[in-house]
Amino acid sequence: MNTIPFPDYRHRHLLGIEGLVPIEVTALLDRAEIYAQRNRSPDKFSEEMRGRTVINLFFENSTRTRTSFELAAHRLGANVINMTVGSSSVAKGETLIDTAVTLNAMHPDVLVVRHAESGAAALLAQKVNCAVINAGDGAHEHPTQALLDALTIRRRRGKLSGLEVAICGDVLHSRVARSNIHLLNVMGAHVRLVGPRPLIPSGAQELGVDVFYDMREGLKDVDVVMMLRIQMERMQGNFFPSVREYFRYFGLDREKLALAKPDALIMHPGPMNRGVEIDSDVADDFERSVIREQVEMGVAVRMAVLEILAANLDHTESTSTLEKR
Ligand code: NCD
Repeated sequence: MNTIPFPDYRHRHLLGIEGLVPIEVTALLDRAEIYAQRNRSPDKFSEEMRGRTVINLFFENSTRTRTSFELAAHRLGANVINMTVGSSSVAKGETLIDTAVTLNAMHPDVLVVRHAESGAAALLAQKVNCAVINAGDGAHEHPTQALLDALTIRRRRGKLSGLEVAICGDVLHSRVARSNIHLLNVMGAHVRLVGPRPLIPSGAQELGVDVFYDMREGLKDVDVVMMLRIQMERMQGNFFPSVREYFRYFGLDREKLALAKPDALIMHPGPMNRGVEIDSDVADDFERSVIREQVEMGVAVRMAVLEILAANLDHTESTSTLEKR
């Protein structure tokens, strides 16, 4: 049999959303939709990835993304190994490439990588024979987060195209924002970036978005309000005067939310800083907030991505420099 199992997604890896075309995004979302439904049924386990090995290689802290990938791989019958920096030889000074080469020798099928440097996943992908999933590289991309956000929106609204989406807060340091901008743009939604001037990247307009430095203006009549975490750990220097001040002007509360469409969805990738970028009152609003659903869709999206990459592996070309050695 020489036919590729998932012909609509032919990339060997998932390193970012940038460059994907609508048919590819739709293929991933449609497959994830099947798993979203199955994950709500009593029978959640299957054999699609039986005999496959997934390595979670996390150089940065993560709770929900790592466990989400782990659960996703388990539900498909794969073997999963978790490697975190603290317990690995990276702590002893081994380089990213050495680690990759070592892991590659164990013949994994999929490597899930999170790293503090932009481009780390792409670099790794050149050095290994397996498929690589970028689980977040610096402030660059976090493709599975954008896919799970898109799936959450699509399930609630039935579509992505034509929607007005406000991405609010610390856009500058956010890989979630970057992946979402690419995905929403390519799927025909319109993106507004909303935040204080120092936290909006210069030249953001070139990404095909509108920029608002006033949250009340930015939220007017939007369909989706996507809040971002203030990423203190990536900030050097003072980006805003105080947390209180930030909440007053850019925190999502009832009053600012009232400017969005009456049924606008409230989203946040987590972890949330309650009382900083979002008020608990709106975060926990059962009617409007889909924050828990985002976590739920995360497992479904990761199942789809793991399955598709593993199934297509024998039909996609490796660019690994190892094989040529
Ligand atoms: C995001 C991340 O790590 O980029 N979180 C996540 O994946 N759950 C967003 C964040 O850390 O703010």
